[in-house]
Amino acid sequence: MAKPIKTILKWAGSKVRIIEQLRPHLPKSKRLVEPFAGSCAVMMNTDYEQYLIADVNQDLICFYNHIKDNDNGFISTLKQLFIDANNKTVFIKRRNDFNCDLWHSDPFLMLCIAYYRSSLFLYLNRHCYNGLCRYNSKGGFNVPFGRHKKPYFPENEIVAFADKARNADITCLEWQDTLSLVDFNDGVYCDPPYMGSGFTQYHTAGFSDADHEALASALKDINDIQGNPITVSNSPEATELYADLGFTIHEIDAPRTISATGNRKPAKEIIAVLEGVK
Ligand SMILES: C[S@@+](CC[C@H](N)C(=O)[O-])C[C@H]1O[C@@H](n2cnc3c(N)ncnc32)[C@H](O)[C@@H]1O
Repeated sequence: MAKPIKTILKWAGSKVRIIEQLRPHLPKSKRLVEPFAGSCAVMMNTDYEQYLIADVNQDLICFYNHIKDNDNGFISTLKQLFIDANNKTVFIKRRNDFNCDLWHSDPFLMLCIAYYRSSLFLYLNRHCYNGLCRYNSKGGFNVPFGRHKKPYFPENEIVAFADKARNADITCLEWQDTLSLVDFNDGVYCDPPYMGSGFTQYHTAGFSDADHEALASALKDINDIQGNPITVSNSPEATELYADLGFTIHEIDAPRTISATGNRKPAKEIIAVLEGVK
């Protein structure tokens, strides 16, 4: 069996490690819509003709679009940032640059510096603690320095992503807005922050039980009204929610990548499926 393709970014909840278990349950369709795309592990390890890739994290989406739109120049800029920079002083300086308020408040500056800021996003991801992506209440990236021996520069993964992204629309949206773009022939794969995990702070807003209920029922409506096949990943806590709506539940063992307690034993996950109506 071919090894899964790794992603550019380290990402909590990445599906790289369970992709073989997930693949048979993914929708069969021409285009895959992914409202919680994260590291794009699913896009990188599947062969849909088209993708609609979305996530609420603007830094993430901006980074992907810079890779998609730029030539090798962007790779050189990214690579440059990895040279002699694996120390706390440089990390803190760059994290401060990344969080600089000016970029948030001045649209012109934002435009000019977006390219540099996007490159910092990869530097921070690969040099911070556990590859986490967390923000404080003001929207500032606040993950500490990671003390990695030799942070990996993911050049092959960037090249592979740029190639794949030619068939992808990549956009920053809340999941409700992404679902409003689902077409009759699309398949939908949703991988929200897991229910009951306590790990909901990918973005400044969390993901509450009410959000989970709203998502599950919106997916059920799409399936009822348009007939789209739907696949959802979640924790076992979400079993009842999805089973009650008629989803078929598959339970799998997932190797842990990031755990606040240091626990790396496999964890149970569910894959909830609604078949499409042909
Ligand atoms: C479990 S991760 C997805 C991991 C992804 N499947 C992968 O393999 O890397 C959940 C993602 O949902 C995004 N997210 C959180 N709240 C969201 C919202 N309200 N709308 C859209 N995306 C959201 C986070 O930014 C995060 O990337």
